[in-house]
Amino acid sequence: MNAPGSVVRTAPASSPEQVFDWLDEEAAKRAEAGLVRRLRPRTADVGELDLAGNDYLGLARDKRVAGATAAAALRWGAGSTGSRLVTGSTELHAELEHELARFTGAQAALVFSSGFTANLGAVTALSGAESAIVTDKYIHASLIEGCRLSRAEVAAVAHADPAAVRHALATRRRNRALMVTDSVFSVDGDLAPLPELAAACREQGAALLVDDAHGIGVLGEGGRGAVHEAGLADAPDVVTTITLSKALGAQGGAVLGPRRVIRHLVDTARSFIFDTGLAPGSAAAALTALGVLRAEPELATTVREAAGNLAERLGAAGFVVGAPAAAVVSVRAPTPEDAVGWAARCAELGVRVGCFRPPSVPDGISRLRLTARADLTESDLDKAVGVITETAPERARG
Ligand SMILES: Cc1ncc(COP(=O)(O)O)c(C=O)c1O
Repeated sequence: MNAPGSVVRTAPASSPEQVFDWLDEEAAKRAEAGLVRRLRPRTADVGELDLAGNDYLGLARDKRVAGATAAAALRWGAGSTGSRLVTGSTELHAELEHELARFTGAQAALVFSSGFTANLGAVTALSGAESAIVTDKYIHASLIEGCRLSRAEVAAVAHADPAAVRHALATRRRNRALMVTDSVFSVDGDLAPLPELAAACREQGAALLVDDAHGIGVLGEGGRGAVHEAGLADAPDVVTTITLSKALGAQGGAVLGPRRVIRHLVDTARSFIFDTGLAPGSAAAALTALGVLRAEPELATTVREAAGNLAERLGAAGFVVGAPAAAVVSVRAPTPEDAVGWAARCAELGVRVGCFRPPSVPDGISRLRLTARADLTESDLDKAVGVITETAPERARG
């Protein structure tokens, strides 16, 4: 008998055509479990009501932001031409880093090619085999990958639970420690208790890393983010990661924090050092989006109000809806198949919604994931609520 977890060696593939046969077996298992994913390329026209994207402030198509991308590409080139430490840093990148730090209240900022690589870089460079990492169990996949690569002692604790964090930090076996959490959780849209987590970390001599991907541009004064709102933006022991690809309507990511943390990342973060720098057009778009937010700080309030409105109306229609802390509104579906069918029926009626199911949902509960935007009109909201209600599977009402 084989030991639990051991791998049974079967006959090796006898021809090159058979080498990937195991992929078909895995695909069949995913189909059986209702977990097949499909790409649905969209057209350039805005034909449907988009409640699935993360363009929270409606800036991705804003003429100032998109125009800045085009102008920067013509001036600096379509790509950045190299890694940030070789030829991939332009004056635009430096200006964006300066402005990101000024806007969010951090000491310094470092721009990465995506939020994913920013998280990989920050988690791995700020930990290592001599460190303990304590995470909320619902953190984003990019942070989980960072933990896996870190070689640290990792403990994932109960969701949004400062007492569990305190306990895990107090019982760690490594001297150095890092606590890792999302600010706004991407699936349910709820907010981490940042002040309490920061207090637990301080008590236990640990650093706090907050992924503010869904908070930047939406939460805090004029969209300065959840970390700013919690009064932690310039704290010596707090590091924030963000994406430029959601509320800022651009593409890319960044780490914000104490100057010495940023210097350390430049020297050691492998996803920064060995990756081509962000395209100049994306840097220009993010910079322009920050300018728009400074000029129109009410955008952040507007998107939060739209999310609250959507959640309230769907709740009144009988669905199980989480209270949105930012732009993400989550609606429970009875099963993964129900969620897929529900989202498809919404799309047929011109409303695109996100569909989350295992393994992308940490708690195993399938959901429609809706995202509000600052430019949603009253009639958009009427249409969204009407279509979601009309297409709901039986048993979706709580
Ligand atoms: C919480 C969170 N962190 C990080 C990321 C990754 O950001 P990006 O899409 O810029 O790589 C995402 C985006 O999907 C996210 O939701």
